[in-house]
Amino acid sequence: MQPNPFKLERYFARHEFTARHLLCSSDPESMSVGELLAYEPDAIDGLRDTWLGYTEYPGAPALRRELATLYEHIDEDEIIVHTGAQEAIYSFMHTMLAPGDHVIVHMPGYQSHYSVAEAMGVRVSPWKAREEAGWAPDPDELERLVTPATRALVICAPHNPTGYLPPREVFDAILAFAQKHGLWLFSDEVYRGLEHDPADRLPAACDVYERAISLGALSKSHGLAGLRLGWIATKSAQVLARMSTFKDYLTISNSAPSEYLAAIAVRHTDALIARNVSIVRANLHTLDDFFARHADRFEWHRPRAGTIGFVRLKRGHAEQFCAELLACTGVLLLPSTLLDHGDAHVRLGFGRRNLPEVVGLLHAYLEATATSTAS
Ligand SMILES: Cc1ncc(COP(=O)(O)O)c(C=O)c1O
Repeated sequence: MQPNPFKLERYFARHEFTARHLLCSSDPESMSVGELLAYEPDAIDGLRDTWLGYTEYPGAPALRRELATLYEHIDEDEIIVHTGAQEAIYSFMHTMLAPGDHVIVHMPGYQSHYSVAEAMGVRVSPWKAREEAGWAPDPDELERLVTPATRALVICAPHNPTGYLPPREVFDAILAFAQKHGLWLFSDEVYRGLEHDPADRLPAACDVYERAISLGALSKSHGLAGLRLGWIATKSAQVLARMSTFKDYLTISNSAPSEYLAAIAVRHTDALIARNVSIVRANLHTLDDFFARHADRFEWHRPRAGTIGFVRLKRGHAEQFCAELLACTGVLLLPSTLLDHGDAHVRLGFGRRNLPEVVGLLHAYLEATATSTAS
């Protein structure tokens, strides 16, 4: 069975390249190939010399060696490079789950975390983010969700769409739960590195649990979504074998120029992350002011990590609000209906440099419409 249409991606397919001002993107400010090449003096020659044959199936060894440096206990053979994180999610679900299995998924969430499994006949239980707890899900609830058929727990930290980052003790409780029940822990870490205070960074799950699969990508923390480059890292030989074999039916190997550029990006992880976090920090100050001025309209839990937050509208409907805002101002927000989470929230992205200007447009719109919407 085909997975249900990916509502968020369909929305972006429709609006991302036509809306005048994006205010819901999860990827931070990107850069040109030239800007990335400027991080290393001879990089342009290397790009010119990159051979355009197939690359090694699990990813170019030079790239996997660089990726392994992002982990404590992972070596290059414990990484499989994919075409974006998305391909790796699809592959994990298809190789490690089977019809009749059960998985627990942190929700609301990124739709492929549950729709791919559902389409395979896997039963999905949501592990619900609790808005009243600053979007923290309750670790004790996991014991109530687990069944004899449960095979995996899918988490995302820092979280899309709420921006929630578990404190270390909650992360440890999640690991202990997965360990106790022998579950695969599929840990989507594509926003890892974008902690607003680096002291809050959690270990990669694959470094601390042998049945964990850490998902990484250059799309978010590095701001290089156009490279279409993601990977999984795991100690599990079974996962590595199955996912490698499955990739033969997906993209076989990766794009050679992307792998070359990706290796440069990974070598400069600290600089790229510092650049993105500094944009995020400045934008959060703008948002603090904005939400203080519009406290009557919005409920906002300031995230501790990542580039996105989930904002509740104190009145009105999210879908209608977003449609009217887009029509009147060209500003794109993402309604929670597309995230299977009612019609009262919007996802807001704060990783782009032009946020102050776009928030200014939102502010002007709210002021102009204040009298007509007050009730
Ligand atoms: C949580 C999460 N996982 C995976 C992805 C997919 O990433 P990629 O663009 O690298 O395929 C996204 C993209 O928005 C995401 O937010």
